[in-house]
Amino acid sequence: MTRVIFIACSIFLFCHSAKAQDITLPTPNLKEHSLSVVQALQTRHSVRNFDSNKDLSLQQISNLCWAAVGISREDGRLTSPTAMNRQEIRLYIFMEKGVYEYQAKEHKLIEKSKGDYRRLLASAGGKAPNGNRNFKQDFVLDAPVSLLMVIDFEKFGRKDEKAVQMGCVDAGNVSENINIYCQAVGLATVPRATHDSEAIRTLLGLGTQCLPIMNNPIGYEKRQ
Ligand SMILES: Cc1cc2nc3c(=O)[nH]c(=O)nc-3n(C[C@H](O)[C@H](O)[C@H](O)COP(=O)(O)O)c2cc1C
Repeated sequence: MTRVIFIACSIFLFCHSAKAQDITLPTPNLKEHSLSVVQALQTRHSVRNFDSNKDLSLQQISNLCWAAVGISREDGRLTSPTAMNRQEIRLYIFMEKGVYEYQAKEHKLIEKSKGDYRRLLASAGGKAPNGNRNFKQDFVLDAPVSLLMVIDFEKFGRKDEKAVQMGCVDAGNVSENINIYCQAVGLATVPRATHDSEAIRTLLGLGTQCLPIMNNPIGYEKRQ
């Protein structure tokens, strides 16, 4: 009998520890900023050297997700505009402890994979946008958080040339929200089109209706 209880407890503990660890985010702090929008526009610039010793708090991640694709109005519309309000940009968060998808409605992170997969954003897996097969940007590994934008064409109901154009523009809108927000609160970032799309598709179980399109590594700039 004791043996049966022991085995049952072990199975319970195993299942429990292997369970996905979703994260409920704190309410976004919309008061936090040190620069006005105009000042942020004036000073925004790409940063490619991050301080790997400085992590971001859950509050900062909450604020960033909200700034990128958070719900800003009672009718469920977002901080970033999308063509026909299709809201087709999925936001994935890559951190040392795992990869998560942001759910705007619940303001929550859904765990997609445990472990550090930021390396999938450092290089394009031999297919860099600049044509250089060996192109690799290891500074991405120093940024504690990277936000990846993925176009979900199912929201358009089609994947023709126009849908691709609209998806790319909308992803750019999200990335620019992140750029300006980071500048306003003293965080560093760079918009990037480099990432290993195929490996990301496999990791996140994305079908052909999804296209990883841009990412923003985020952290504090390393002062020399
Ligand atoms: C669509 C797009 C893709 C980009 N891809 C990369 C990239 O893969 N790696 C990188 O280091 N910078 C990338 N950048 C950043 C640009 O190089 C940068 O914005 C440009 O040099 C202008 O500098 P600024 O952002 O400081 O104004 C990208 C920017 C955009 C808009």
